[in-house]
Parts: sequence; structure tokens; C-alpha cells
Amino acid sequence: DKGNHRHFMAKEIYEQPETISHTLSHYVDMGAETVALREALPFDFADLRRLTISACGTAYLAGSVAKYWFERYARLPVDVDVASEFRYREPPLESGGLALFISQSGETADTLAALRYCAGQGQHVASLINVPESTIARESQVAFPTLCGPEIGVASTKALTAQLTALASLVVAAARARNTIDEAQERELVRALVELPRAVSAALGAEAQIERIAKRLSKAKDVLYLGRGAMFPIAMEGALKLKEISYIHAEGYAAGELKHGPIALVDETMPVIVVAPSDPLLEKTLSNMQEVAARGGKIILITDEEGAAKVGAGVAETIVLPTVPSFVAPILATIPVQLLAYHTAVFMGTDVDQPRNLAKSVTVE
Ligand code: M6R
Repeated sequence: DKGNHRHFMAKEIYEQPETISHTLSHYVDMGAETVALREALPFDFADLRRLTISACGTAYLAGSVAKYWFERYARLPVDVDVASEFRYREPPLESGGLALFISQSGETADTLAALRYCAGQGQHVASLINVPESTIARESQVAFPTLCGPEIGVASTKALTAQLTALASLVVAAARARNTIDEAQERELVRALVELPRAVSAALGAEAQIERIAKRLSKAKDVLYLGRGAMFPIAMEGALKLKEISYIHAEGYAAGELKHGPIALVDETMPVIVVAPSDPLLEKTLSNMQEVAARGGKIILITDEEGAAKVGAGVAETIVLPTVPSFVAPILATIPVQLLAYHTAVFMGTDVDQPRNLAKSVTVE
């Protein structure tokens, strides 16, 4: 049932304040403002030397955001790879490491094969799954849930924000166990998560502006998405979402890579979407934006109130998100990139929920 929405994707985008809350309620003790994992862990975060994450598509991008988080807050080294590369690379793994597999369906063939490889290599096997009875969940020593309900649209939306919410909770748990944050810092991070659903509701309020931008985007042949740090995977997610449902060619790049190649593409016809809320990396991204503007590129900036105040001329459009702690900013920034892809696809007249050539669950390699 799509409710009042034209597509399942729209319904699922709008469900996110609730699905994030619901996921969070599984991981967090709201009263104590702590993360309280309900699953028995077959490993101790304090003893881990490395975390290896494998997944596909959007789930891989969730893992890529988590790499920034685990490294920053828990000082835990993370390798993250797409499962189809990881499994055939057969990387050496130190026994006793933790391998984490992220999958909405829990049936993705490459992710499952990566899991079986890691199990054979003496890794602790954990997964983050939306379908609890799935193969990947069943073959894991511990299966952490995302509680976003069934996702019908082929383009993943609410599953991604649920994955990020759960991963953020695991990061806090890991950081506490490893003593890289103290109790006060834990409360601060948990509070940021608890306050997130309200910010997501506010971010959904930019829809009318985004629809207007999408109308212009639907005329583009190529679109570049840029981000730094944990916003880099969000830039990749924006590009993935746009190409899969609107069929417009899009690429996500680390902003610092701009002058190592992609800037050659920039001209007056190419929209460049920059995902850059206020954080210590914003200044760097602003100088990349100047390079784009100097070549006539049309910049669409996704930032927050603080970031918007720092931006000078040369930006065609600014989508302003509420200012949130930088820990949760990547979760919030997924909202405008989802809406942008959705409305562009609606203008293009594509089959938004069932894009051509794609399946919801990729159970063959
Ligand atoms: O079910 P999974 O999370 O394992 O699926 C992984 C990818 O196939 C999936 O995220 C895909 O990239 C989406 N269509 C992206 O919107």
C-alpha cells in the first residue's frame, strides 16, 4: 500500500523519521542515553584489531560511511569493499578479526559468498540485515537488525538510513568498549542519534525546492556529485540513486580528486552537486567549488545553516539542512539526495519503483 504517495519510493522516503526511530529504539537506552546491545556478542570490541566490511550497492556505501565512524570514534581500523571484489580477491585475514556483512535482503549472492569466505578464515561473522529469516542472517554468528519494515522500491532509501542508524549505534558501543570515548561523549553521540528523526522530518520539508531543482536536473546528460570524509559515500549514493532510477549518467567523487581528472568534464551544462555540511573539511570543499564555478559549472550545494552562511557567490542553488552534530550529518544528508533522484526520475517519466534492468534482490552473481 502506497498510502497517499505516488510511488513506494516516495512512501519509503517519508517513512524515515519513524524507521530511524524504530531502529534506534532497538539499540539505545533512551533514558540512560547509552547504547545497550541486545545481541550476545561472540567477540569483544576491545580486543579487535580490524573490522572487515563487505556489501553491495547502497549497503556498501553504508559500510563506507561506517569506516569513517569506526576509525574516528572507536580507533578501529576498517577495510570496506564491494563483496564481488572482496570474495575473489581472497584477502588474507588475521584470525579473530570481525567481518561484518550489510544487506537489506540478506540474500545477495556476492555478500553471502564473502561471508562464507570469512567464516572459513576464522573471522567472527556478524551481519546487519533487514530480513531476519534471510540466509545471511542465519549464517551469521550475530545478526543485527535494521527495523525499517519491508522495502518495496528497488532503490534503497529507508534501508540505508536504518543501516546507518544501526551502524552508528555499533560505533558507539565499540568506542565505549575500547575506551576511546567516555560516558559523557557517549551521551552526546546518543543524543545526536535520538534527535535525528526530528531533523530528518525538517529535511523532508525541502521537497518543493528539490522538485524545482530536479526539473532542471532532468535535462542534464551527466551529473557529478562531490563530498569529502563521510560525505564522500553520500555523494556516491546520490550518484547511484540518480542513475538507477532516472538513467542519467552520474558519478560520485571525493572532492579532493576533482583536479585529478573529473574537472575536465565541467562546463556550463554540467550540474555539480556538492554535499558539504559545516565541518572542518568545508573550507577545502569550498575551494573545489570555486574551481567548478570558474569553469561555469552549475553548483547545487547541500549544506546546513552554518555552511550556507560561509558560502559566497557562484552557487546556483543551496539546499539547507538543519545543523546537526557532524556524527549524524551523513544520515541527514541522504534525504536530499534521495529526493533529488526521486523527483528527477518522476520528471523523466521512468518506472521509479521498478527501474529497467534492476532486481530488488540480486541472488545471482
Ligand atoms: O539486499 P542488499 O542490501 O544486499 O542489496 C544490495 C544492493 O543490491 C542494493 O543496495 C542496490 O544497490 C540498490 N538498488 C541501490 O538503491
